[in-house]
Amino acid sequence: MALSTSCTAASSLVLMKFLSIFIFLLLLLLPSSSTASHAKGSSAIPQSDVDLLEFPLNLEYLEAEFFLWGSLGRGLDTVAPELTGHGPSPIGAKIANLDHLVRDIVAQFAFQEVGHLRAIKKTVPGFPRPLLNLSRESFATVINDAFGQTLKPPFDPYANEINYLIASYIIPYVGLTGYVGANPKLQSPTAKRLVAGLLGVESGQDAVIRTLLYERKLVKVNPYGITVAEFTNRISSLRNKLGHGGLKDEGLVVTPIEGAEKRIKGNVLAGDQFSLSFGRTPEEILRVVYGSGNENKTGGFYPKGADGRIAKSYLIKQKFYLLEQYSA
Ligand SMILES: *[C@@H]1O[C@H](CO)[C@@H](O)[C@H](O)[C@H]1NC(C)=O
Ligand SMILES: *[C@@H]1O[C@H](CO)[C@@H](O)[C@H](O)[C@H]1NC(C)=O
Repeated sequence: MALSTSCTAASSLVLMKFLSIFIFLLLLLLPSSSTASHAKGSSAIPQSDVDLLEFPLNLEYLEAEFFLWGSLGRGLDTVAPELTGHGPSPIGAKIANLDHLVRDIVAQFAFQEVGHLRAIKKTVPGFPRPLLNLSRESFATVINDAFGQTLKPPFDPYANEINYLIASYIIPYVGLTGYVGANPKLQSPTAKRLVAGLLGVESGQDAVIRTLLYERKLVKVNPYGITVAEFTNRISSLRNKLGHGGLKDEGLVVTPIEGAEKRIKGNVLAGDQFSLSFGRTPEEILRVVYGSGNENKTGGFYPKGADGRIAKSYLIKQKFYLLEQYSA
């Protein structure tokens, strides 16, 4: 009898605990589901935030396609056709010759970028995939510009792990600086939450790429006899030059004065004098990814330019400019 009473007491205690957890969870869920439905209509997001959230779609499309093709040999058209918005297929993307580890990591990056596209398009209207030039020649042009000479044979991003990682060094970092640059301009909590989430994973990808390259920093890239470190330093210098925004990019080995606390030359992560990530404006990013040093002049990875209000505003100016020149 005594035993069964204590049993019932114990089980009602358990029941009460469950009930209180249930009520607690219910309370937690109620306000969050009401904010979610509020955000869905994007009525809570001011136009300036919409513009700043749409701009990085350009870069996320590029990353998704480059990583999907490089690791799996197929792109958004087969992996997630609903995200393309019927935009044109990329030019020249193909599967890369990678070892098991790098292919595995790049495939993870690829699906992360697909997630990023979904997250942005769930929050703002966005636009279809822009035309992307991911051809061997497109990357070779960047590398030639970085070295100020024509490498022979032309650099092939898809040839092996090292080349693919060097080509990857060209990409997520630019997105990362864009998110750092956009953050202080955002107004709505929804936009800030999204950009923080994107920035976290984007900088993680950059860290992985840089670490894999850092391990090989003294390896000479075939057949040029130039080290991996030199490649990264040259690419970073080119981006600083094209961006016209001062020093915002650093290779894997720097003079100690540019290293953390001005005390170390290894530079596995780039950062300013306080080791904070550099930020870039959309204009600086366009100058870099167009390869032209001018937000008005399309080219590079975006033969027809980037999309969204910010990028388009410069293209309209370019059309007027060309028209004026023509009629003059
Ligand atoms: C892709 O880039 C390469 C190198 O710049 C260029 O030769 C080629 O014409 C570009 N393709 C398109 C369709 O823009
Ligand atoms: C882009 O075009 C606008 C309008 O013509 C002009 O004011 C601006 O200086 C141009 N920017 C560059 C970098 O050429």
